[in-house]
Amino acid sequence: MSVHNSSNIKRITTHIMQEMKTRGEKISMLTAYDFSMAGIIDAAGIDIILVGDSASNVMAGHETTLPITLDQMIYHATSVVRAVSRAFVVVDIPFGSYQGNSSEALRSAIRIMKESGAHGIKVEGGAEIKESVVRILSAGVPVMGHLGLTPQSIYKFGTYTVRAKEEEEANKLIEDAKLLEACGCFAIVLEKIPASLAKIVAETVSIPVIGIGAGPDVDGQVLVVHDMLGINQEFKPRFLRQYANLQEIMTKAVQDYISDVKSKDFPTKEESY
Ligand code: KIV
Repeated sequence: MSVHNSSNIKRITTHIMQEMKTRGEKISMLTAYDFSMAGIIDAAGIDIILVGDSASNVMAGHETTLPITLDQMIYHATSVVRAVSRAFVVVDIPFGSYQGNSSEALRSAIRIMKESGAHGIKVEGGAEIKESVVRILSAGVPVMGHLGLTPQSIYKFGTYTVRAKEEEEANKLIEDAKLLEACGCFAIVLEKIPASLAKIVAETVSIPVIGIGAGPDVDGQVLVVHDMLGINQEFKPRFLRQYANLQEIMTKAVQDYISDVKSKDFPTKEESY
C-alpha cells in the first residue's frame, strides 16, 4: 500500500479515512441509490458512497427528504452494497427513525446494518440527538455526523440558504462537531456553511470533515451524483460543479432511438435472430 494515496486499497475503512486526513489526502464521496450507478462509482475509485436520503428527491421525486422510509432506505442500500467492492458505504437514517428515541435509533441502525450489509450510518444533528448517537455507537456501528444545513430540518429553517453565518449558530456548530467527535463518530459532513467556519471545524476536530458547499479547507467533498452528472438540470446551487450533462446525452439517445424505431431503421437484420 502506498503511503501517499489510497488508490490501491482493497476496501476503505474508517481507519483508512482517518489516515487520509492525517496525511492530507482528500476523501472523495458521492451518493448512489442503485446497483448500476454504485457499480460505476465504485469502479471509478470513490472512497465513500453515501446512500443519502436525497433518494427521496432524486429517486422518488419528493420535494424534501422527509417522506422516505426506513424500509425504502434499506432497499436502496441493499442494491448499492451488492455493487460495491472498494468504497465504504454509509446510509442515512431517515427522518423519524432516530430523533427523540435512542432505542428506536439503535433498532433503525441495526436494521440498516443487518439487512443491507452497509458499513456505517449517517445522522443529522448535534447535541439534540446525542443520546441516539451514543446508543448506536455502543452497538459498534460507525456513525457519521451531519451539521449545518441538515435537510431533515428544512421546515425548521424555512429556507435552503447558507447556515451558521451568525456567531451563535456558528459557535453551536463548532460545539456540536466537538461533541460528535467526543461521542466517537468517525467523520462529520458539513453542508452549506461559510468556508471559514468549515476550516475552523476541520482544524478543531481530528476526525475527517467532509464538505458540501463548505469550501476547500475540509478533509473531503461530497456531491449528489445526479447533480454532478447533470441528470438534474433544475438544481444548480453555487457549490455544485457539474462534470457532465447526462440529461442532454440521454435525451439525444432516447430521441435517436424513437426516430430509429419510427423510421424502421431499428432493428436491422444483424440485430435480429
Ligand atoms: O442525502 C444526501 O444526499 C446527503 C448529502 C447531501 C450529504 O446527506
